[in-house]
Amino acid sequence: MIIAQIADTHLVAADAADQVSRARAEDLRACIADINGLAPRPDAVIHTGDVTQHGQAAEFTHARSLLAALEMPLYVTPGNRDGRAGVMRAFASDGYMLPDCAFVHYAVEAHPVRLVAVDSLADDGGAKGDLCHARLAALDATLAEAPARPTALFMHHPPFDVPAAPDPFAYQRRRAADDLAAVVSQHPQVVRIFTGHMHRPWTATVGGVAASTVPSVAIDRRYGHYAATMAGRPVYHVHRFEGDWGFASETRLVGSGADPL
Ligand SMILES: [Fe+2]
Repeated sequence: MIIAQIADTHLVAADAADQVSRARAEDLRACIADINGLAPRPDAVIHTGDVTQHGQAAEFTHARSLLAALEMPLYVTPGNRDGRAGVMRAFASDGYMLPDCAFVHYAVEAHPVRLVAVDSLADDGGAKGDLCHARLAALDATLAEAPARPTALFMHHPPFDVPAAPDPFAYQRRRAADDLAAVVSQHPQVVRIFTGHMHRPWTATVGGVAASTVPSVAIDRRYGHYAATMAGRPVYHVHRFEGDWGFASETRLVGSGADPL
């Protein structure tokens, strides 16, 4: 199974006169064209949050119109910029989210790797994440449903330190990440954790499981150090599952041509 991961598109409303609007839309368009052109083609795309800049309806409308060009299923988890309700309104019609759930928590069963979305938003709407008992219990129960199926979690806030970032830890409470790691460690079928939020690449281990962040699709919000040849070219991740040893991940520079995966 191949998963393309995009994150932190930070889209604003469509406005041809606004340079930021045009640039961020073009960053996403370029990623989508690259994803659609990969061979072999990804089975699914995950967006690990901050679809929008301000969580406004017009921004989600813009996002939906752009993301409609993807030629494979898309699964979204909310970022702090989006808000929970905004993501539910914008993407519930795609049918993969649980109706009447207080959080954006769901499992996707349609692929060889089970995908489980974790809602890492804090209830106060702040930039940092949090995980309450209800969400951790829901995650534990969801994972207990399919102990034999390889499973990947995806969420916005990375539950590990990113020392290169000005603020290395993305959660309000250290305990939230510790509790998540404890749940993960109880379910050995969890093979990978995909996150966003940091706008830069990083890898770590959470509860014994490999975890990673991805650079922001929005080039003007991308952090870290990149080669001059990458200026103006968005980046996303391609994760390829090999049953014997988990996921191998590639940082994909848009416009690199038809390199074999
Ligand atoms: Fe972001």
